[in-house]
Amino acid sequence: MANPANKSKQVETTGHVWDGDLREYNNPLPNWWLWSFYATIIFAVVYWIIYPAWPVGKSFTRGIATVTVEENGQTKEMPWNSRSQLIAEMQSSPAAVKQREYIEKVGAASYEEILANPDMMAFARSMAKGYFGDYCAACHGQGGQGNLPFFPNLADDDWLWGGKVEHIQASISSGRKGNMPAFANVQGQALDDLASYVLSLSGEAVDAAAAERGKQGYAMCMGCHGAEGKGNPMLGAANLTDKAWSVINIPAAGSIEEKKKLVAGVINKGIAREMPAFGSRLKPEEIKMLTVYVHELGGGK
Ligand code: HEC
Ligand code: HEC
Repeated sequence: MANPANKSKQVETTGHVWDGDLREYNNPLPNWWLWSFYATIIFAVVYWIIYPAWPVGKSFTRGIATVTVEENGQTKEMPWNSRSQLIAEMQSSPAAVKQREYIEKVGAASYEEILANPDMMAFARSMAKGYFGDYCAACHGQGGQGNLPFFPNLADDDWLWGGKVEHIQASISSGRKGNMPAFANVQGQALDDLASYVLSLSGEAVDAAAAERGKQGYAMCMGCHGAEGKGNPMLGAANLTDKAWSVINIPAAGSIEEKKKLVAGVINKGIAREMPAFGSRLKPEEIKMLTVYVHELGGGK
């Protein structure tokens, strides 16, 4: 049997002896352990330099690593962190790359090409639906149905400013100011007659004699609404001969008296509405897709 005392003679000990024969070896650390330990120290220092690591006051050391991300069409280096890395991954994912390619394709195509291409239409529709929800639905409603008297319906084929793609694009990029002056001095019988005449233009069942008398007063309105009441898209002046109403909600009024009251209100008070301009807030491709979408909502003239 090996005597531990013999072994202790071969190996260096610390010199302490307990209970007469318990000795403490003084073995060096194994090299594999030592080198691993040094490696972790070097790793840590390199890590601190490259990545965000140490808190400094309310901030932290950001590290020298960067991530390339795209912002507003320009590539940009951002300090590495899990957030910028996620953004970069989302931007470079196959789906995102494909989407960007498609947006460029739609951006380069003419309206005729887009309208004639079912694939581009489907793409524009799905993208624009999101933009519409973000930027337009607060006023025009989720389905573009509007909210009279404040916001016009975009889902009918009746347009104040014209329903061709170029008109719709102009409405979105530059905004619109819908202004009708107030005719406060038209009162009493004259007001009632004029309101009757306006309603007769779209076939409402008004008193024929009153409408006939009101025709005279309509001379004040012709400059904008036209001799026949067909409106003028250059001024945003509504067509008064169709049954689609953009400001006053005539179909919702119960009786002819209520309808006349609504028309009389517009004559006396005028109209001042404003559509904000989106030309500087949205990219040209976004406005293009929205234009196609709104055009289609309105039945696509
Ligand atoms: C702050 C409310 C508001 C927002 C947001 C808004 N609009 Fe409008 N929009 C209006 C008003 C008010 C009018 C009517 C202007 C007038 O009276 O002539 C209008 C008119 C329009 C017209 C012209 C309609 C016609 O009959 O000729 C189009 C097209 C239109 N908006 C599209 C959009 C789109 C697309 C968006 C989103 C990018 C949008 N609007 C966002 C308020 C808004
Ligand atoms: C300076 C041009 C101008 C004149 C003059 C004018 N209008 Fe208008 N009118 C407009 C415009 C523009 C609108 C649409 C406002 C808007 O888009 O917000 C409008 C809207 C209306 C509407 C609402 C139509 C709808 O679809 O809801 C009625 C009704 C109307 N006008 C009647 C008259 C009558 C009656 C007169 C004459 C007493 C008259 N207007 C004179 C410019 C004019």
